[in-house]
Amino acid sequence: MTKTPSAADAGKRAAALAALDDVQSGMRLGLGTGSTADWFVRLLGEACGAGRFRDVVGVPTSLRTGELAERSGLRLTTLDDAGWLDLTVDGADEVDPELNLIKGGGGALLQEKIVACASDRMIVIADASKSVDVLGAFPLPVEIVPFGWETTKALVEAVLADADVSGRETALRLARDTPFITDGGHMILDLRLGRIGAPRRLASELVAIPGVIDTGLFLGVADAAIFGREDGGTERR
Ligand code: 5RP
Repeated sequence: MTKTPSAADAGKRAAALAALDDVQSGMRLGLGTGSTADWFVRLLGEACGAGRFRDVVGVPTSLRTGELAERSGLRLTTLDDAGWLDLTVDGADEVDPELNLIKGGGGALLQEKIVACASDRMIVIADASKSVDVLGAFPLPVEIVPFGWETTKALVEAVLADADVSGRETALRLARDTPFITDGGHMILDLRLGRIGAPRRLASELVAIPGVIDTGLFLGVADAAIFGREDGGTERR
């Protein structure tokens, strides 16, 4: 049984429910990570259980999503076994008018990007508060290698010194006072940038640093976005 959403959660649920209209029997689906993606996984599990879709198989973007998907009765596989996916449905921390995204608030950005980029289509599901004019108010996650991370942080700060941003604070993400470690064994720097004026340039300069694996900037990856409101309505872009 799907749990009843709080008022704040209702927009996430509404977006997730609307995304089921993009699913068809036989699809190989990328399953995102986060509270909105969790709604999609639970609702998809219910829909499959009720016979709305047959032979759907999912590729989870995190251990957490994989566990939830199993509990929801979904059939899972790996990206390597699936080879390519029909559709990925995932949440986002910010969505701009061109459907560029900041992702990684939940720390799964690398696997999320690998899965989204191995899919025919990626649909973002989010509550309406995630729609922004310019990216950057949400801290930008940057996934880095633990080896030499302080040097990598200094190199990231050097890139920021010349970047078109309005803030330049960097912080190692912590979980219970120790470094947060991703499913892939990496660490995350959160960059408080305020406003990102040139996201493409920033992304390419950051990933050129050897210790940087990837950033939470998803540029040109999403094909559509569904924003859910608290009253249960949705807007598709
Ligand atoms: C996880 C993500 C999430 O999709 C993003 O943080 C949004 O999360 P939520 O749906 O809980 O607001 O990128 O790495």
